[in-house]
Amino acid sequence: MITAGRRREWVRGKGGSVVNPPVWRASTILFDSVEDLREASSHPDDQLYYGRRGTPTQWALSEALTELHPGAEATLLYPSGVAALSMALLSALEAGDELLMVDSCYEPTRVFCDTVLKAQGINVTYYDPLIGQDIEQLFTPQTRAIFMESPGSLTFEVQDIPGICEVAHRYSITTILDNTWATPLFFPAIERGIDLSVMACTKYITGHSDTMMGSVTAIPSHIEKLKRISNLFGQYVSPDDANSALKGLRTLEVRLKAHEKNALKVAKWLSEQPEVAWVLHPALSSCPGHEFWHRDFKGSSGLFSFVLEGGDDRDRTALIDSLEHFGIGFSWGGYESLALPVDPQPIRTAASWQAAGPVVRLHIGLEDPDDLIEDLAFGLKRFKASRDQSGF
Ligand SMILES: Cc1ncc(COP(=O)(O)O)c(C=O)c1O
Repeated sequence: MITAGRRREWVRGKGGSVVNPPVWRASTILFDSVEDLREASSHPDDQLYYGRRGTPTQWALSEALTELHPGAEATLLYPSGVAALSMALLSALEAGDELLMVDSCYEPTRVFCDTVLKAQGINVTYYDPLIGQDIEQLFTPQTRAIFMESPGSLTFEVQDIPGICEVAHRYSITTILDNTWATPLFFPAIERGIDLSVMACTKYITGHSDTMMGSVTAIPSHIEKLKRISNLFGQYVSPDDANSALKGLRTLEVRLKAHEKNALKVAKWLSEQPEVAWVLHPALSSCPGHEFWHRDFKGSSGLFSFVLEGGDDRDRTALIDSLEHFGIGFSWGGYESLALPVDPQPIRTAASWQAAGPVVRLHIGLEDPDDLIEDLAFGLKRFKASRDQSGF
C-alpha cells in the first residue's frame, strides 16, 4: 500500500529518489533513430512510445493496483468508472453472446447493457442478486459472462461471489465484478474467483472527491483482450489524475477503516430509531446476503442505505434538507459525508424490491460520527413532523 508501484527507474534521479513518481506529461515521445522508434513499437505499454499508451505516472498506479490484487496479471486505467465497466463488458462479449447481469447493479451499468450491448447483438438477462449457485439454471449455450456488483448499488444485497464463480468457471463463463464498495482491501476479488475486477477509482481510491477514474484488474487469460479493446477505443487517463489517485491510494487503508468504524456506528444507531424501518448495511444482519459478507469480506466501507418508516418523498426531503454535516450530491468515497434520496423500485426487473417507505443512501465520511448522529436525529424529527402532518 505504501510503496506499491514505486519502481526504482520511475523515481530515481541523479543522487537519490523522489517519494512520489513524478507527473510525466506527454503526447509525442521522441526517439533517437528510426530503429529506436520501430523497436519501441514492440512494447508500447511499458516503455515510452506514445502519450496515449501511458508514461511512468500511469504505469506506477496500474502496477500498484495490480499488486493489491493477488493473482492478477495487470490493471488498465480508464477516465471514469463507467468507462472501465463498459470496457470490461465489451472485452468479454461478442454479438450472439449472452450476459447475465445482476438486477441490483449501478443504474448506468444497466443503461449501458440495455443500449450499447443490445445494439451489438448481445442478449442481457437480469438475475436476482440473491440467486447464488442457482444461477446455473439460467445458463444457455450462449452465456459468456456474469456481471456481479456486491453489495448492490442502492439496496446493498451481498452476493455469493465464490459460489457463482465456481459454477461459472465449470462452464468457462467469464466473471466480472464491480468491486468499488469494498476495494481489494475488504474483498480480494481475484482470489475469490473473479476474472475481471472493476473499480470506480473515483470513489475510495482517489478518496478526495476531485478525480474521475476507473480501473479493471484482470487475470492472465483475460488481459490481452481487455488491452486490445481499450486501445481500440483510445482509453487513457491523464498523468495528473493518475498522480492524484496514487496519492489517494497511499492512505486507502486508514481511510477505509475510519469509514467502516463511523458508518457502523451511524448504521447501528439508525437501526434503533422508530422512524427507520430497515437499515441496508452489509455488516448488519438486517441486510440481505449478510451471511456472505460475514463469510467473504474483510471489512465494510462507508456507504449504505436506510428505509424510512412510512412517509413519502416530501417527508424524506424534509430530512435530507435539514442535515448540516451531510452534502447532497452524487458519487461517494470522499472524506465527507453525503446523503441522497434514492428510488430503487422502478429500476428493478428480475426481482421486485419493496420497502415500507422512501430510501436514503448515506456515505459516511471521516467526521466525528457523534456529530453525524446528532444531525440525523434532528433530520428524523423533521421527517416525522412532515409525515405526521401529511397523515401517512
Ligand atoms: C458502484 C458504482 N460503480 C461504478 C460507478 C461509476 O463510477 P464513475 O462515476 O467514476 O463513472 C459508480 C458511481 O457512482 C458506482 O457507485
